[in-house]
Amino acid sequence: QTEFAQIKNNNLYIDDVKATDLAEKYGTPLYVMSEGHIRHQFNKLKTKMIDKYENTLPLFASKSFSCLAIYKVAKEYGVGIDCVSAGEISVALKAGFDPKKIYFHGNNKLPSEIEYALSNGVENLIIDNFHEIELVQEIAQKLNVVVNGVVRITPGVYAGGHDYIRVGAKDTKFGFSSHDNTYLKAIKKVIDAPNINFDGIHCHVGSQIEDVQAYVLAMNKFVDISYEIYDIFGIVINKLNAGGGFGIAYTEADKPLEFETVVDTIMEIITKGFEARGLKRPMVLVEPGRYCVGNAGITLYTVGSSKYIKDIRDYISVDGGMTDNIRSSLYAAKYDAIIANKAEMPTSHLVTVAGKNCESGDILIKDIMLQDSQPGDILAVFSTGAYHYSMSSNYNQLPKPAVVFTYEGKSREVIRRQTFDDLVYYDIDSTY
Ligand code: LLP
Repeated sequence: QTEFAQIKNNNLYIDDVKATDLAEKYGTPLYVMSEGHIRHQFNKLKTKMIDKYENTLPLFASKSFSCLAIYKVAKEYGVGIDCVSAGEISVALKAGFDPKKIYFHGNNKLPSEIEYALSNGVENLIIDNFHEIELVQEIAQKLNVVVNGVVRITPGVYAGGHDYIRVGAKDTKFGFSSHDNTYLKAIKKVIDAPNINFDGIHCHVGSQIEDVQAYVLAMNKFVDISYEIYDIFGIVINKLNAGGGFGIAYTEADKPLEFETVVDTIMEIITKGFEARGLKRPMVLVEPGRYCVGNAGITLYTVGSSKYIKDIRDYISVDGGMTDNIRSSLYAAKYDAIIANKAEMPTSHLVTVAGKNCESGDILIKDIMLQDSQPGDILAVFSTGAYHYSMSSNYNQLPKPAVVFTYEGKSREVIRRQTFDDLVYYDIDSTY
């Protein structure tokens, strides 16, 4: 699979920890995250961007996996983070993350969220819409602060792994359109807002992008937009944020994008573009989420019941499902998996892996060749580190699994498994 996931003596090991030992110690379903791999990825953000190019900052997109432990690791590499709610900001602050390195995103930031962010030292906002400009101005004025506003513009590039995550095209709820002059009106309004410092422009073309051309198109467009801003307003932008979306390999069919390739490509376009007009290159930001944590995750399940429908399909069911992995049903996402305790046996059985949720669409993997399995075997599903724990739910009152980090032969629990008491924690026995 990957350098941290290895097969020895018929068993899967994650960072040199035996998968079945993890399943036994912490129970299943279990989100295992290789801290070794996460550190490897964050180190690339540092060495291939921060150290290589002056005035750059990669942001880790929190939405992919937000908890205290990840922010504490991210912090060590000097990266910033992208947060999309006051909740995410609050977790990051509790982890001791520097508010100056938090970039606040969202298409409907609530007044209470803006106030929370600004009163807690967050200075960088991605400005998404006209209503927000007014809100931010009003709140910043009340709190007597000036914030940096980067204007989010949709570049009109159509790219990404699924319709739901292609957000750079024209028809999207995010940002200001670039196919008419809406974005220029927005920039004018930001410039005119006394408590917002117009700081630059942002785009995000989509997620799970496998073709660097999407970034080439968007960045060329953004260089042109930067010229336009200079010509109209006489301002050289201070920040250019190229967004996230760097695709990873879920299965062999995927062609992942290498961080360095994307960064080198966009740095070249931006540097040359600004040089050509004699303008100072802005600070360049990117915001990958999946790239940092996606491949690091492996979910362990215990195999339970099975159903063989003659000439049609063989199902095996596991003890989790759409509650811990909504991506299969939401995006028809594909995954690779093995039976962790029979890892060297032949993959001789074509099965469909079903979850235990009461929903016929609760299928984790449709049609995969797996080792023959028995109840009690451990199924390992790969590349479940991004948008799995963070999108998990308690449907059917299933407690959320624990999250365990592995590193150099050791494991530690970073989020404990929910208990039945947790399931009624918010319930109130009230009367009228
Ligand atoms: N920046 C912005 C503005 C975004 O909207 C996103 C993702 C990212 C960065 C990070 O994208 P990444 O590098 O992780 O692809 N839940 C979906 C993806 C939705 C992503 C939403 N925004 C999934 O499971 O694939």
